[in-house]
Amino acid sequence: MTPEHILVETRGRVGLITLNRPKALNALNDALVDEIGQALDRFEADDEIGAVVITGSEKAFAAGADIGAMAGFSYMDAYLGDYITRNWERVKTCRKPIIAAVAGFALGGGCEMAMACDIIIAADTARFGQPEVKLGILPGAGGTQRLPRAVGKAKAMDLCLTARMMDAEEAERAGLVSRVVPAERLLDEALAAAETIAGYSLPVIMMIKESINRAYESGLSEGLLFERRQFHSAFALEDQKEGMAAFVEKRPAHFKHR
Ligand code: HXC
Repeated sequence: MTPEHILVETRGRVGLITLNRPKALNALNDALVDEIGQALDRFEADDEIGAVVITGSEKAFAAGADIGAMAGFSYMDAYLGDYITRNWERVKTCRKPIIAAVAGFALGGGCEMAMACDIIIAADTARFGQPEVKLGILPGAGGTQRLPRAVGKAKAMDLCLTARMMDAEEAERAGLVSRVVPAERLLDEALAAAETIAGYSLPVIMMIKESINRAYESGLSEGLLFERRQFHSAFALEDQKEGMAAFVEKRPAHFKHR
């Protein structure tokens, strides 16, 4: 079925998802988040795809959950419906890496969607924030949990309690985004980074993603042990033989399981 709220395409070995509700600044609704999940199912099953990029428009990555849709909710509507979050963790459970390419507003659920991805590359126009407090609610899709892990308690409190926005430069300084690029270069830079990732051994890429995510779910000793076991298991891969042989023979590696 053709998705209604996103565009889905492939660029080389990269799956590209473009949020496409421009009139509402890509406000997130259930259908849109479900469509992202379906696109990720497709990319995950496709051996030709090694990484995914999620992007929005020049003006907004996403300005949050759809306020109009939520305005009349009762507690039971919110609780039973689990608005926009019933499929939310699909971005996290995708085993292939996902880059959020963010230009313009990434607010509320938009900031939370970017944070659920593995890497955020920001245009110099990007603005991040958790302005839910202005609506009489709090962040509900990771803002109070992923943001402090990314930028520390003080800045997370500042952003969530005052609703102020953070520009791309501040977001990079704080560790929320991995790089800031000129807006006109955003998609090219994100696709190039994804293509680089897609050129490496997919099982190794998946182990790296799993191991780094483990750092946020476990104590240090457990995380280090998890990493060590993954490291040992890499020696069972043909791609390890190829990668090291290529280095010794001073030639580029040609990974079989890309
Ligand atoms: C629905 C939205 C929207 C949103 C913008 N629009 N954000 N519609 N939900 N979150 C719509 C506007 O109503 C408007 O539609 C059109 O997009 C353009 O927006 P403007 O406000 O006219 O643009 P501008 O003046 O440039 O201001 C941009 C903005 C502002 C600063 C981003 O739109 C804004 O503050 N948006 C709300 C941001 C927010 O509070 N996000 C958190 C939502 S709660 P019309 O039809 O009038 O042209 C949330 C909870 C997540 O995300 C957790 C869930 C579990």
